[in-house]
Parts: sequence; structure tokens; C-alpha cells
Amino acid sequence: ESPAGQQQTGQTGTYDSAFLKACRREPVPHTPVWFMRQAGRSLPEYRKVREGIAMLDSCTRPELVTEITLQPVRRHGVDAAIYYSDIVVPLKAIGIDLDIKPGVGPVIERPIRSRADLEQLRDLEPGDVSYVTEAIGMLVRELGTTPLIGFAGAPFTLASYLVEGGPSRNHERTKALMYGDPQLWADLLDRLSDITAAFLKVQIEAGASAVQLFDSWVGALSPADYRRSVMPASAKVFEAVAPYGLPRIHFGVGTGELLGLLGEAGADVVGVDWRIPLDEAARRVGPGKALQGNIDPAVLFAPREAVETKAREVLDAAAGLEGHVFNLGHGVLPNTDPDALTRLVEYVHEQTAR
Ligand code: CP3
Repeated sequence: ESPAGQQQTGQTGTYDSAFLKACRREPVPHTPVWFMRQAGRSLPEYRKVREGIAMLDSCTRPELVTEITLQPVRRHGVDAAIYYSDIVVPLKAIGIDLDIKPGVGPVIERPIRSRADLEQLRDLEPGDVSYVTEAIGMLVRELGTTPLIGFAGAPFTLASYLVEGGPSRNHERTKALMYGDPQLWADLLDRLSDITAAFLKVQIEAGASAVQLFDSWVGALSPADYRRSVMPASAKVFEAVAPYGLPRIHFGVGTGELLGLLGEAGADVVGVDWRIPLDEAARRVGPGKALQGNIDPAVLFAPREAVETKAREVLDAAAGLEGHVFNLGHGVLPNTDPDALTRLVEYVHEQTAR
């Protein structure tokens, strides 16, 4: 029996999937597997359909988005799909002048560094991203009982692109703003939390079965700074989507020292990178949360036996967890052999069949 929260969404028939059960910390028929950045990246069929189409243009074409989202589900037999889009899509949709440069990442034409620059950030209306509603409608019909994960960038990670103007190693301008003008920083993050919450709501209302908040670069912060300067904005996002009753996943890279806070921000599932074993992560996160992760994406470049040894280590460390969603510790690397991913899904399913 599905609770009301699940039935409000368009994707019926996914409630009893292994993925959603694991997120809810219920017994599962096998450990569910999906891969961050499984859509696009390593697949030849992706490169083929994307030929001649810019990344951000591809995100606004519902048929193409549907096809690319389904490709890894068909090929690998993963337990969940992740919606093909990008964390900067809602920013583009409200009129921020930005592009995704191949091999580089998002580049912002007019970075946000002063109070006047904040005016670039207006609220996101569902009509700004009608192609998302349309694509997810198509997707949930095609996916059947395979859940669709919606996602968004978290306020800190979005702010880091907006303030730096592009990718950054040390986030120095971002931190300069955070430490130098705490009020402007708080206002920036608060605006981003509203945009992010609105973008996730569109995806949930259209039929997504779970959502993941990517705070990819937040591992650059200390716990004290995270709690003071970032957690309120991320918590506001999680609170905004709480009424839907769907699993909320929270992920960042290099967040070993932040895992407890990532859970506390309002997540049901905490994503863990490969730098810390899942049993230790569980101690840091505390009870009442499922964990997602955490094989090193670079391990996929090693021979099959080595991949399986590493996967076995992850499964052993996860043996005592209440809920485990198998994943990489970060996204699929572009040159990964797709067959290595397919074999890894088979291995995890086989090893955990109950
Ligand atoms: O997970 C999926 O497969 C769904 C699609 C997805 C994309 N980006 C598609 C994409 C998701 C979930 C993202 C999230 C995203 N985007 C994050 C958070 C996840 C993470 O990896 O930490 C971040 C930080 C971004 C910003 C961004 N967009 C980067 C760093 C890049 C890579 C730039 C490059 O070429 O190396 C992008 C571009 C991007 N987003 C691509 C894809 C498939 C590659 C562009 C292409 O194929 O032309």
C-alpha cells in the first residue's frame, strides 16, 4: 500500500522497487544499484544522439532527454534512472547568461559578486522549465516500475559557479564572499534555495520518485562553516520537498567530516564518496538514514577481478546498514568502459540476491 505522498506523483508502480525500499530502509530483494552521471558520459549511443547538439540545448528537448535518460537503464539494468539535465539548467531558465563548455563545465558570463548582481536571480516558475515537465511525463510512462530520480544542485555548489564564473579548484572568490559579506552570502544562498526547491518540485509534480541534491563541492568547507553558512539554505530545500514524502538524497565529494551534517540538513539518504568506508560513514551519519555509495569511479578502469574485489569490500562494509543503495563515490568518468558498469550491476545483484 502506498502512502498518500507517493500517490501524488505521476510515477505509480515504483513504490515497491528495490531502490525506494532501500531508501526507506526496508528489506530488499537485492541491493539496488545506479550510477551518478550514468546518463551520457561513457555511452556511445549517447554520443551518437548528442552529435551536433549543445549540452544545454539537449536538456530542453523532451524526446532527446527521454532517450538519454533511458539509455543506461536499457544497457546496464540499473535499479533507477536519473533525469538527464544539469545543475545549471534552472539558472539558465531564469535568464542567467551561461554555457557548458565541453571539457570545462559551466561558465557564467556575468558572475555574481555584489548585491546589485543578485538581481540576476529571479524566482523559477514551472513555466520556465515546461520541457522538464514534458520530458518527465514521457519518461515515467516509459520507465514502468523503474524509479526516476530528479535532481538539483545545492545552493553552495551553484553559488560557487555563479561567484567564480566557472569551475574552481580553491573556491577563493566564493569563500571571500562567504567570509567577507555574510549577509550578502546568506541572501544569495537563500535565493538559490528557493530556485532549487522550485526546480525539484517541478520534477516531483511531473512524476519523479526521489530527488538528489548535489552539493558536489561542499567538501571544501569545515563543519563549523558548513553549519553556519550553508546548512540553513540546504535545509530549506529539503523542507520544501518534505511534504511529498519521497526519499531525499544528499551528496557531496570529500565530505567525510560533514556526513552527519548532510544528514541533519534533512536527507533520508546520505551519499558517501570513496574516501571513507560505509560502516564508518554510518557511525558518522547516525541512525535513521540510508547510505548511498561508494566505489571509487577510477576503480572501473582496473581489471574485472579488481573491480569485484572493491565492490565486495563496499558490500561487506554495508552489511550492517539499515539501507544501502550501491553507487560510485562520484560520477562515472568519461572514458569508463560501459561493459565494466554493466558487469558491476550484475555482480552486485548476484552477490546480494536474497
Ligand atoms: O547523472 C546523470 O547522468 C544525469 C545528468 C547529469 C549531468 N550533470 C549531465 C551532464 C547530472 C546529474 C549532472 C550534475 C552536475 N553537473 C554536477 C553534480 C554532479 C557531480 O558530478 O558532482 C555538476 C558539478 C555539474 C556541472 C557540470 N556540467 C560539469 C562539471 C560538467 C562536465 C564538463 C565536462 O565536459 O567535463 C557538466 C557537463 C555535463 N553535464 C555533461 C553531462 C552529460 C557533459 C557534457 C557533454 O556531454 O557534452
